Amino acid sequence: MARNLRSNSYIRGLGYYVPEEVLTNSALEQMVDTSDEWIVTRTGIKERRIVKKGQSCSDLAYVASMKALEQAHLDPLDITHIILGTFTPDVCAPATACILQAKLGATDCQMAIDIAAGCSGFTYGLELARGLVKVNPHANILVVGSEVCSSRMNFNDRNTCVLFGDGAGAMIVSGELDNGPKIIDILVKTNGELGHLLQVGLEGGSLEPFKVGQRVTEKYFIHMNGREVFKHAVRGMADMNWEILKKNGLLPDDISLFIPHQANYRIIEALARKLDFPLERVYVNVHKYGNTSAASVAIALSEAYNLGNIKSGDLVLLSTFGAGLTLASVILEF
Ligand code: UT7
Repeated sequence: MARNLRSNSYIRGLGYYVPEEVLTNSALEQMVDTSDEWIVTRTGIKERRIVKKGQSCSDLAYVASMKALEQAHLDPLDITHIILGTFTPDVCAPATACILQAKLGATDCQMAIDIAAGCSGFTYGLELARGLVKVNPHANILVVGSEVCSSRMNFNDRNTCVLFGDGAGAMIVSGELDNGPKIIDILVKTNGELGHLLQVGLEGGSLEPFKVGQRVTEKYFIHMNGREVFKHAVRGMADMNWEILKKNGLLPDDISLFIPHQANYRIIEALARKLDFPLERVYVNVHKYGNTSAASVAIALSEAYNLGNIKSGDLVLLSTFGAGLTLASVILEF
């Protein structure tokens, strides 16, 4: 196994939070023309978590961040940067990262920004953090993926409303440690020409601004060409994962745990097949939480770690795909 993998980006702590309220497939059967059987067969999703009224993206991010800080034995005052991936910010401005900074009381934080990279929001955030610790080795960077997907779901559209859920995951990335879990490598890619396949807020942005008193239409919510997205997701993630493994002199057998974006169990299965990965080494929680977009792999990583599925020395591969279209692969060493 290749073990001379260098890094200057250390993982200090992980945390996640999902709201308590469970939305089951049978509850969705009461809202749209769907069935538990269709949802389970086509997606693997059995239930998802949904916020209670008044609970926002920054609220979920706050709980996940506090858990990551606790695991890192750090205080909010130690945070120097916050990078938050989301497509469901609390408001358009200020950034949800700034709202989170205030909630945490992270008064020594120099920079707090949101990034819009769809379901790759968290992994794109790790790429930015990796760059920041190079120029500022003393940084403690809070990278969060947080989503209230339910706020952008049209509960009259069976094509999308059965797929998504709410939640948040966080990681603290630091540059000044000598050993411990670390980010080994990241590859990212963007294909804006395919952006039309997955869009949110076709109305209410600068393209089609709202007027006071205007009624919200379905254009405000998620629109997706599921079949096309499915194809690009499997092909794109498989190619990028082979590329990052090859670049680092690794084979699928060297990876102890593969954590792909939790969008659809059929995508995960097809991807594992293309990578010759046995499903026993693939982490899956899509049946419990649905697709939590930017929070997806952050939640899965933290959950897998807390459950003891990741041991010291293990190599973990993260793989994401989302609106943009965006793609990212990340290799971590624990
Ligand atoms: O995280 C961002 C990335 N997003 C994704 O990864 C999503 C990728 N796409 C997918 O996961 C799948 O394409 C879906 C789960 C969205 C759809 O599964 P599919 O096997 O591709 O189904 P389909 O879109 O080809 O639809 C098959 C049929 C259609 O009926 P007809 O036209 O064959 O009569 C749909 O109208 O299933 C129908 N359908 C439903 N039926 C019951 C679509 N949604 C539902 C539903 N319940 N909820």
